[in-house]
Amino acid sequence: MHNRKVYIETYGCQMNLADSEVISSLLSGDGYEMTSDLEGADLILVNTCSIRDNAEKRIYGRLGEFKRLKNERPGIIVGVMGCMAERLRGKLSAGGVGRVVDLIVGPDEYRRVPELVARAWHGEKGIAVQLSRVETYDDIMPLRTSGISAWISVMRGCDKFCSFCVVPFTRGRERSRTLDSILREVEVLSGRGFREITLLGQNVNSYRDGGCDFADLLKNVSGIDRRIRVRFTTSHPQDMSEKLIETIAGNSNLCKYIHLPVQSGSDRILGLMNRTYTRGHYMSLVKKIRDAMPSVSLSTDIISGFPSETPDDHRRTLDLMEEIRYDGAFMFKYSPRERTPAYEMKDDIPDIAKSARVAEIIKLQNGISSEKNSAHVGKTVEVLVEGPSKKSQDEWQGRTDGNKMVIFPKGDASAGTYIRITISRSNSATLFGSANVGETTSVVEAA
Ligand code: SAH
Ligand code: SF4
Ligand code: F3S
Repeated sequence: MHNRKVYIETYGCQMNLADSEVISSLLSGDGYEMTSDLEGADLILVNTCSIRDNAEKRIYGRLGEFKRLKNERPGIIVGVMGCMAERLRGKLSAGGVGRVVDLIVGPDEYRRVPELVARAWHGEKGIAVQLSRVETYDDIMPLRTSGISAWISVMRGCDKFCSFCVVPFTRGRERSRTLDSILREVEVLSGRGFREITLLGQNVNSYRDGGCDFADLLKNVSGIDRRIRVRFTTSHPQDMSEKLIETIAGNSNLCKYIHLPVQSGSDRILGLMNRTYTRGHYMSLVKKIRDAMPSVSLSTDIISGFPSETPDDHRRTLDLMEEIRYDGAFMFKYSPRERTPAYEMKDDIPDIAKSARVAEIIKLQNGISSEKNSAHVGKTVEVLVEGPSKKSQDEWQGRTDGNKMVIFPKGDASAGTYIRITISRSNSATLFGSANVGETTSVVEAA
């Protein structure tokens, strides 16, 4: 018999992408073959997200599609992994959906996937949704598809309990991986030629292993291979220390790019959100970051239409954005999530008002992003080459240290190398340019 084929579809944040690589590793160790062809798969896994209602709706849509495949090929197994599995185990195992879904596995139970799949071939349904205080998958080397960029989860779970957020319920308590296991993984990736590593956690700033904090971790990781760019996400504004800022500023291969979700510009709303910082604290943090790293790129997350948000609160968010001028932002309409404290507050901003506010926020940010990007025109940037762009094989893409996407004619660029590109035009999302002939040495390498 041929090796059974596994197809994994991943939604949600980068933590989920990293987890899918852990699941792939476990299954390939058990003799399965990974495939990107849905129609040819024997086992279909969907790694899901619960952060907003529309994320979950999308998954239900996909399950409908998998049902059609199952009708055509009754032998296949469908599994739901991730945050929705954790949150909606009951709903996913009952009724029409329950007939499509054979396996339900939450974020801390992936070690059991091979065993549960083995039983599912014999018609047994599997549910594993225990959360753990200790599971970090420390000893599992994720199965990575890219040879250039890698994610490494350095911690799991979240103890912040922002009042709107489902993550503490779907991913459980905060816990860190050991420094040693992370460094060993980075060494392996360095040996395999990886050029970019992103350290992941819901709140990386509370990373801790004995006496070692996140700044120590970053410093150690960056020292392993100076040709590797090191990124991280996400930072919570309350826990970002001066030591961390100095560490980023002082190491050439720690990217000068910080994702620092603000959520709102209004202190009253920040209080209701349980974000534990004020606008004033946030602004002074941004000032410290920019004083230490004048060229730093900053991005953020913003929620519009949180319960009781007034036009004045909304205005404060807009003027915070104008004051800070982020390089990028992820902007969302508030979505009530069961079990969260905000769910008990009245969701009193009508959808039409949420839409109008978020549209205004997006418009403002697009304008700022365009202006900031156009400031690069005529300048030369260093780009880590990723490969062909999404739109064309002749044009390639890569990113700057500040995480800006750059599109350029392929020329003799090869994936995983650093090249210098002179920017000729830009829009709100992308820079366009061409390589400087004869200049392929790496600034990162030389540093
Ligand atoms: N741990 C990260 C973010 C996790 S979720 C952090 O604290 O920054 C990513 C983003 O989704 C959040 O920053 C927030 O802006 C948004 N989000 C979370 N819950 C939401 C909800 N109920 N409705 C709308 N947006 C939400
Ligand atoms: Fe959610 Fe807040 Fe934790 Fe981020 S820090 S995952 S928004 S509870
Ligand atoms: Fe979504 Fe879970 Fe990540 S809810 S954003 S996949 S932690």
